[in-house]
Amino acid sequence: MSKGGETGLQPINLKAIPQRRLYTGATMPAIGLGTFGSDHVGPQEVATAVKGAAAIGYRHFDCASVYQNEQAVGASLEEIVRGGVKREELWITSKLWNDKHGEEDVIASCRKSLADLRVDYLDLYLVHWPFPNFHPPGCDVTSRSPNAKPYIHENYMRTWRKMEELVDLKLVRHIGTSNMTVPKLKLVLRDARIKPAVNEMELHPHFQQPELFQFVIENGIQAIGYCPLGSPGRPERDRTPEDTAPIEDPVIIQIAQRHGIHPAGVCVKWAVQRGQTPIPFSVNPRNYAANLHAASGDWLTDEEMQAIAGLDRNSRLIKGQVFLWRSGQSWEDLWDVSGEITPP
Ligand SMILES: NC(=O)c1ccc[n+]([C@@H]2O[C@H](COP(=O)([O-])OP(=O)(O)OC[C@H]3O[C@@H](n4cnc5c(N)ncnc54)[C@H](OP(=O)(O)O)[C@@H]3O)[C@@H](O)[C@H]2O)c1
Repeated sequence: MSKGGETGLQPINLKAIPQRRLYTGATMPAIGLGTFGSDHVGPQEVATAVKGAAAIGYRHFDCASVYQNEQAVGASLEEIVRGGVKREELWITSKLWNDKHGEEDVIASCRKSLADLRVDYLDLYLVHWPFPNFHPPGCDVTSRSPNAKPYIHENYMRTWRKMEELVDLKLVRHIGTSNMTVPKLKLVLRDARIKPAVNEMELHPHFQQPELFQFVIENGIQAIGYCPLGSPGRPERDRTPEDTAPIEDPVIIQIAQRHGIHPAGVCVKWAVQRGQTPIPFSVNPRNYAANLHAASGDWLTDEEMQAIAGLDRNSRLIKGQVFLWRSGQSWEDLWDVSGEITPP
């Protein structure tokens, strides 16, 4: 049991939080804390949340070099371990940023994240995006990197070979993909020596990605779901008029009222019960405690799960416009919506 910190919540039954079994036999807590502060939550605030979250029972932390806060988060992780939490109880993810896909950059980039996070190994290292295109932090969605490229499978596999080497070197326990599509994953599964253990993807009640979700589960890949609450705090530049908000959905609100919780808790429960691993971001102790609490019981009924299954609106929030490689393209081109990899 965890006391739920100074949050006024009931104690959290940590033993009731499900664990996901990866194809290696390793287990991963079925909820993690996101650490992307974007441009409005600074590194120190995120690092304080990591410490507070660990104190009430979080063991899974979703990090990335591009979040520009791994040094601060690493200081918290070191304190957490010094405070008595064993390293092997933690699940720490980091990600290779788009400007480090080059064969000579992958291992060095991972070593930098290891040093910043102050750990000897990562539980999971992801290729953050399938494109080597990048942009300055905080830029407008119309910004494009000058040498932007489409997905080139041979290049991705060159990067992947170095990711595999990280496993051989025991610097990381698992490797995975992020922001992939079914046709791209099919090629990676065909050609990988060490197959991805996880695919990290946007998943919330208004964006359920049923086909991709089914595909990864059937292939023994765990799905980590980002923006599990519909990212209500994302900056204005990442919003479009057609975006929808799952925590404002009347069905979600009604279920939340029935359970006496915030709609965010319903999104967490739905995700955990569906079989994905949500990684909600929060720097508010009351909110991150409520999210952990939601993953520990008082589960949704079959009827409630079915009602939420019917809410999918194919409403992608993280469209990735800045990663497009040609002028005149639409963001859908990044996501292979025709079922084929979008031609160059
Ligand atoms: N692989 C990728 O490409 C990728 C892309 C995007 C995100 N991610 C990862 O996914 C994580 C989560 O995504 P996200 O941060 O965009 O969206 P999110 O987790 O859906 O939403 C976070 C927002 O919800 C609020 N919130 C959290 N718990 C709440 C609660 N119980 N009640 C009310 N409000 C609550 C937070 O505010 P407070 O801080 O005030 O609580 C914050 O503004 C990121 O931090 C990052 O680690 C990965």
